[in-house]
Amino acid sequence: MAPKAGLLRTKDIDDVLHQNDDEGVGEARPGLSRRLRARDLMGFGIGIVIGTGIFTLTGVQAKNNAGPGIVISFVVAGVVSLLAALCYAELAAAVPTAGSSYTYAYTTIGEIFAWVIAWDLILEFSLGAAVVARGWSGYLQEAFGLPQAYFGEEGSVVNLGAVAIVLVLGVVAMVGIRESKWVTNALVVIKVAVCLFVIVVGAFFVKAANLVPFIPPSAPPAEGATSRLQQPLWQFASGIEPAAFGVPGLLVAAAVVFFAYSGFEAVANLGEESRDPAKDMPRGLLGTLLICTVLYVGVCLVLTGMVRYTDLSEGAPLSDAFNQVGLGWAGLLIGIAAVAGLTSVILVDIVAVGRIGFAVSRDGLLPPSIGKVHPRWRTPYRFTAVATVVIAVFAAFVPLATLAEMVSIGTLFAFFVVSLAVAVLRRTKPGLRRPFKTPQVPLLPIVSALLCLALMSSLAVETWLRFLVWLAVGLAIYLLYGRRHATLAGRRPDEGAGAGA
Ligand code: ALA
Repeated sequence: MAPKAGLLRTKDIDDVLHQNDDEGVGEARPGLSRRLRARDLMGFGIGIVIGTGIFTLTGVQAKNNAGPGIVISFVVAGVVSLLAALCYAELAAAVPTAGSSYTYAYTTIGEIFAWVIAWDLILEFSLGAAVVARGWSGYLQEAFGLPQAYFGEEGSVVNLGAVAIVLVLGVVAMVGIRESKWVTNALVVIKVAVCLFVIVVGAFFVKAANLVPFIPPSAPPAEGATSRLQQPLWQFASGIEPAAFGVPGLLVAAAVVFFAYSGFEAVANLGEESRDPAKDMPRGLLGTLLICTVLYVGVCLVLTGMVRYTDLSEGAPLSDAFNQVGLGWAGLLIGIAAVAGLTSVILVDIVAVGRIGFAVSRDGLLPPSIGKVHPRWRTPYRFTAVATVVIAVFAAFVPLATLAEMVSIGTLFAFFVVSLAVAVLRRTKPGLRRPFKTPQVPLLPIVSALLCLALMSSLAVETWLRFLVWLAVGLAIYLLYGRRHATLAGRRPDEGAGAGA
């Protein structure tokens, strides 16, 4: 049975598996049908994963940190994601619920870890939505020649395009309008088609000279990036002079473009709906990552071959590359397709933030009133509304690359915890039903955790400071509120968010 006291108290797995019966939110219906196969999971995963990471960050990072070596950065980030996915798959198959790593942690390693992960996920999905919204705005700007100051990255004053799309989709998420299956599938096809188009058509415009040197030698960082706080943590700690490019630059870029893989964990949330979680879940997760890695590597190679890395656009590099080689129609087509494809990523992120807010308030870790479900819309409308406003403010004023670094550090941290949890739980809970087992435990989870840490240490000192502040605020909320009000603490055993405040 679950112990009812202490920071490490856990939920009973059986309780969690039956919890969705009375959750009350729109998509967590009782008796979800088990109909998804591995290929459905892959379609879903690719739909969430492909986004601003490949469409926009590629340009920023190739230009400022990696040159054509951005290809290697994407491979490194893909390998780290793959290892983390193998760890994720074990927990996802063992606890096949709609609750993601928050629930896995709550049923296994304990409440305080679960809360930290949830707090971290709120950061990841909120700022992720802001990043994609700015990417969306950048492509809109490029396609229709809108003013950079209000829609682009370079010389941005306030990103009105990003604010507008966040507010519209925030309302859509609150009211509970979901894309139909048809629209979702079409958007996945559009995004994959953009990548394939860039690879196949762009290949005709690749100039070998643009790919040399493949890894530009180390150089002083660009103007405006010379502060010690903008140095990667490991360079700062070892007292090395600030530098961009070279192998360290590749690692910085790998850490930032890790963002491009974030979101694949959402596949793990579909455990309840997959036909055979033990087989379909790992295949779905790994298949998603493999396909995305192949597409990403192809796009990066062609992009940096079409345009010299120093001339890449930071706002809409894919469209801009085709404009630069004289294929304006293709640039416009890509721009419109990117705007359509990115829209669904923003919506999924905002919906995900609401779901996490709902889950933690249902468990009493935040006040139940904030996670209240709307009687008609069946959505956690209050939490979603607050999150939407916060996301809009960040999307308005913070540069895309800075936001992406925050998402990367948050995602890497969650993967770090999940990887360690897999290794620890094999010892502490040997009896846990594990339909899928991560291979090579404890070696693989330990390597996965170390690689996550290594990539995190390639992120800027200021990113670490912001992240630590975020975690400290989260811990304070837990210690001052969640610890005492948690449903597991026994104070309000029958009070849940679904029941209202
Ligand atoms: N991985 C998603 C993207 O690149 C979040 O936009």
